[in-house]
Amino acid sequence: MCLQDKKIRACIFDMDGVLVNTEKYHFMAWQRLTETLGFTIDEKFNENLKGVSRSVCVDLILKHGGLTKTQEEKNALAAQKNEWFLEFVKTEVTPANVYPGVLDFLHSLKSKGYKTAVGSASKNTMLLLNKLEIIQYFDAIVDGNMIEKAKPNPEVFLKGAELLNVRPCECVVFEDAYSGVEAAKNGGMYCIGVGSPEVLSKADFCIRTFMEMNVERLKEL
Ligand code: BG6
Ligand code: MG
Repeated sequence: MCLQDKKIRACIFDMDGVLVNTEKYHFMAWQRLTETLGFTIDEKFNENLKGVSRSVCVDLILKHGGLTKTQEEKNALAAQKNEWFLEFVKTEVTPANVYPGVLDFLHSLKSKGYKTAVGSASKNTMLLLNKLEIIQYFDAIVDGNMIEKAKPNPEVFLKGAELLNVRPCECVVFEDAYSGVEAAKNGGMYCIGVGSPEVLSKADFCIRTFMEMNVERLKEL
């Protein structure tokens, strides 16, 4: 139990939409895919796709469009979306895509001895962290290749805490997705929402960008 000792020892970061603005490229690739299927998706629907695995996204999209596909067809759709997403990554993503304030915050966490991890549903996590040149800031990385249960299941964050050798209640998770906030809370962790407090209402508090974040604020939790 952590009741007496509320000290935060570790920060676990979601990647897409938290560390980097790749969420928009996921959205654009899904939009392109749905157009080939004869319908469109909007930003509001896209909130459901944030934080969840590629295959779950395909299921949600097909349900939204009222379509049924075989497993083989679904795999092909997921592969096509990933190909388009990776084209964006190749042409658009550089270290400049890391969100403002992220590097300063990571620097201060490291200098003050906090442990850090990434907890992402994306199977492209390693590729992106390398491309963004931020991989060296993390003591552990848990990605979509290492987990079985999609957020809001807490598996990805619990695995992160385990690799960092800290208790869940000593962790703060940074999340931009509704399902991700739920995953952190389901895992017994603190959660700071990155984005709109209306969407991320279950977070302990929200920031709009990491320019608002510093180590002192971790003590508010
Ligand atoms: C999450 C994104 O981080 O990763 C989702 O929020 C995405 O939008 C999911 O679908 C899976 O990503 P990938 O790169 O494995 O297709
Ligand atoms: Mg995210």
